[in-house]
Amino acid sequence: MTYREVYQASMADPEGFWMQASETIDWTQKPSRALFDRGEHLYEWFADGLTNGCYNAVDRHVATGRGDQPAIIHDSPVTGTKSTLTYAELQTRVANLAGALVARGVTKGDRVIIDMPMVPEALEAMLACARIGAVHSVVFGGFAAQELAVRIDDCQPKAILAASCGLEPGRIVEYKPLLDGAIEFANHTPEVCIILQREQSPADLTPGRDLDWHEAQQGVTPADCVPVEGNHPAYILYTSGTTGAPKGVVRPTAGHLVALHWTMKNIYQCDPGDVFWAASDVGWVVGHSYICYAPLIHGNTTVVFEGKPVGTPDAGTFWRVIEEHNVRSFFTAPTAIRAVKREDPKGLERQRYDLSCLRALYLAGERADPDTIEWAQDLLGVPVYDHWWQTETGYTIAGNPAGLEALPVKIGSPTVAMPGYDVQILDEAGHRQAPGTLGAITIKLPLPPGTLPTLWNATDRFRNSYLSTFPGYYETGDAGMIDDDGYLYIMARTDDVINVAGHRLSTGAMEEVLAGHPDVAECAVVGVADPLKGQVPLGLLCLTTGVNRPHGEITAECVKRVRDQIGPVAAFKLALVVDRLPKTRSGKILRSTVVKIADGADFKMPATIDDPAILDEIRTALQTIGYAKG
Ligand code: COA
Ligand code: AMP
Repeated sequence: MTYREVYQASMADPEGFWMQASETIDWTQKPSRALFDRGEHLYEWFADGLTNGCYNAVDRHVATGRGDQPAIIHDSPVTGTKSTLTYAELQTRVANLAGALVARGVTKGDRVIIDMPMVPEALEAMLACARIGAVHSVVFGGFAAQELAVRIDDCQPKAILAASCGLEPGRIVEYKPLLDGAIEFANHTPEVCIILQREQSPADLTPGRDLDWHEAQQGVTPADCVPVEGNHPAYILYTSGTTGAPKGVVRPTAGHLVALHWTMKNIYQCDPGDVFWAASDVGWVVGHSYICYAPLIHGNTTVVFEGKPVGTPDAGTFWRVIEEHNVRSFFTAPTAIRAVKREDPKGLERQRYDLSCLRALYLAGERADPDTIEWAQDLLGVPVYDHWWQTETGYTIAGNPAGLEALPVKIGSPTVAMPGYDVQILDEAGHRQAPGTLGAITIKLPLPPGTLPTLWNATDRFRNSYLSTFPGYYETGDAGMIDDDGYLYIMARTDDVINVAGHRLSTGAMEEVLAGHPDVAECAVVGVADPLKGQVPLGLLCLTTGVNRPHGEITAECVKRVRDQIGPVAAFKLALVVDRLPKTRSGKILRSTVVKIADGADFKMPATIDDPAILDEIRTALQTIGYAKG
């Protein structure tokens, strides 16, 4: 079948399309139908089926003869170690860890926070939760204790699974003190913390609360897979929204299994047994879907890479891993490729490796700039496919269905809508835009299986954030257009979310932290262009009247504040003191005008600006830190 035929089938008969797709996973009880309309634009998929995520990702492969196949390859240039786990070994480990959780009273529906670096145990932790129907919430290691505390209070975990440390090039990230700090900040207290002691920095355990990872598993009964309803939450993954409070995206079990399975062949061109590698982190959605679940559900081998694109030890690391582990399809963020390109622009490192195993490179997480795509294409000699998706959807909204039918690549476009996604461009009044016309990118409801049915304990926020602007449509928060051939183009965010090195961050959250500084009267954070990270945050600070301390001291305190309260991942390093913020007469801060000035782009003086002179002052201030060169 062609892409067009498959897409049309998903639009014309979603029920039939997804019921057929659901045959690819194992059910304890098949669902009676696919779509459940819960009213008021809320939907669920496969709600009355019974299945288990871990069974589909692990046990069924052992049962059907893949027990000896590698399930996980751990390649860790930061520790100088490599190891492989077969599906049979993974099954034993996951059943034991799940048994340890059960022994501590964790049962179906309980939440478990996972705070771990890129080690196989992170996947084992996710799968152990799925095995017993516990709902995991993985927290990225680059966040500060306070961010972890917010998540602890929101999802109220019964248990936390953590590692003693992570390893960033040149420094050990001590997870345990961070975890202790977070538990102290939080109102909710978990009953137990199970800690993986890493030899690089073992942690002190808190008696009565903390258990050693291996000791906790001694003498326990390995746990069996617990069948859960199709709409049972598999996990909660927090992501940035407009305000400081992160949104807890809920992933429903069955839809996620069915949809992820579909993508492995049709998008990523993998057959069971092939090695698939997503160089991301388990703390992000890419890590959930494409380091852990999708490759395992599909019977592939997944690579867990604990390193960076450059410096661990060099810009050839990616190419080494691809050759050494026979990687078929490779997925990373454009930033990572830009980092390699910056270090090795001529691609000399690549010449040292035989990459004939590689079929394609997939990019997502942020805008893929044409230079990066072309450079990678020339270097690797394989197609480079940009694809667009969000934490909320869990997999591709628009991509190139290369395993079904490789469509011509148009650089600058992530290609076309995937089955089940009725992507439409709307103007502010909700009218459909003609091809080539910019507007809000929306998806006509219902969203396909696997996408978020709601936010954790926050259905009103779910409605307000995604469903209220355009009734009957899901608002993606991105703006763009569709061309005459149906190719989508992603141009910008319509909210306060910025994308730094493929990491999604909220400028609103940073503003809340800066506004808490005693000398800051008012502030604005915007995302300005950065050649490596795509965007970086820039803070403009107006000081309280009468403050006359050196500005450098105040900006340094502000940088530290964001690092301490949000985390190093925010990469907040640019802060400027200004007299006033540029505003409209009604008081709205002209953030997009600041961005244009910083990026040296053309802009029209906003007609409603209160005080045009301030823009020149801001331009001059930005020039002192190397921006506004245009
Ligand atoms: N745990 C603790 N700290 C972390 C972390 C983690 N898991 N990940 C990043 N950090 C820290 C970094 O050490 C850095 O700290 P520093 O300010 O002390 O240097 C800070 O957070 C910012 O990190 P990052 O934005 O990653 O910048 P970098 O300069 O360290 O590395 C790249 C730049 C391009 C190499 C890196 O951003 C990268 O590999 N990006 C790809 C992103 C990606 O895969 N995204 C997933 C979406 S698909
Ligand atoms: P996240 O939820 O962290 O995956 O971030 C999702 C957001 O990242 C999207 O809404 C886009 O703004 C941006 N994004 C992700 N992939 C792409 C892409 N291929 N092209 C442009 N923007 C992207």
